[in-house]
Amino acid sequence: MAETMANQGTAVGLKDVPETMLWTLHNRATEAMRSDRILTDPKAVEIYQEINYDYERSFGKADPVHALRSLVFDQAIAQFLKQAPDGTIVNLGEGLETQRFRVSDSSALWLTVDLPEAIQAREKFIEPDARHPHFSLSALDRQWFESVPKDKPVFITAQGLFMYFPKNEVRTLIQDIFQTFDSCCLMFDTIPRWFSKKTTSDEGYALTGHYVAPKMPWGINRNQIKSTLSRWLNNDITIEDVGYPSFTRGIGWKVFTAFSSLPILKDITPTIIKVSSNKISN
Ligand SMILES: C[S@@+](CC[C@H](N)C(=O)[O-])C[C@H]1O[C@@H](n2cnc3c(N)ncnc32)[C@H](O)[C@@H]1O
Repeated sequence: MAETMANQGTAVGLKDVPETMLWTLHNRATEAMRSDRILTDPKAVEIYQEINYDYERSFGKADPVHALRSLVFDQAIAQFLKQAPDGTIVNLGEGLETQRFRVSDSSALWLTVDLPEAIQAREKFIEPDARHPHFSLSALDRQWFESVPKDKPVFITAQGLFMYFPKNEVRTLIQDIFQTFDSCCLMFDTIPRWFSKKTTSDEGYALTGHYVAPKMPWGINRNQIKSTLSRWLNNDITIEDVGYPSFTRGIGWKVFTAFSSLPILKDITPTIIKVSSNKISN
């Protein structure tokens, strides 16, 4: 299955936005290897160790941010599956996320949608099957809608994805999702405008001297999210700003947690948003 070079692990050969799946894997797997871990994920560790890539050279020392993000999504998906065990999960831009190994032990259908080069990398480590099909497609290509059963609730996630799209693409995708699926929950994370501007500036957002993150054109401040989504969608939805959980390991996280609870400063932090059609939230 895996294309292995002698003693060197498996090459995945990713660039541009697909390469960022190695950044999130680095952060999640390194967290999962700690004795005081907040995320248990042996599959992520296995994949991380198998890939031939100098993670620290590109991304620097690992940070728990993506493990924390995954925990929030894991919890929401698990709760959805408790209420709708035969519901559908769609994971847009799933990359090398191993969420289904952590969460789903039900009969749910779990669709992975990612770009062809990303699916090719994923399939070196994770095989699709009838219950976990992979779609080599852009999330913006509405073809994947056709594979989602319309008579069951659906939970659609985009983790580390929408910021890489222009705002109008995000708007029309969200509008099309809620026009197509009656019983739907969509959960995604956002970055604030200052951070988006940093990534689109001439110098860009350099994680290290060897890696500049791809541009993230869609940024939105937290105080504008509910009004923006209400304008984009009809009223028959519930919007929750779920946020990141408080976390105080290390000074950076102590500051972030403090910032996230202060008026005004809170508005310029990243967050996690859950939008539910009222058919599902009632
Ligand atoms: C930051 S990574 C996040 C991966 C995964 N969700 C995670 O949290 O580990 C961004 C992902 O978005 C995918 N991606 C980029 N553009 C995409 C598109 N137009 N449609 C679907 N996926 C896309 C990339 O291939 C990559 O897997």
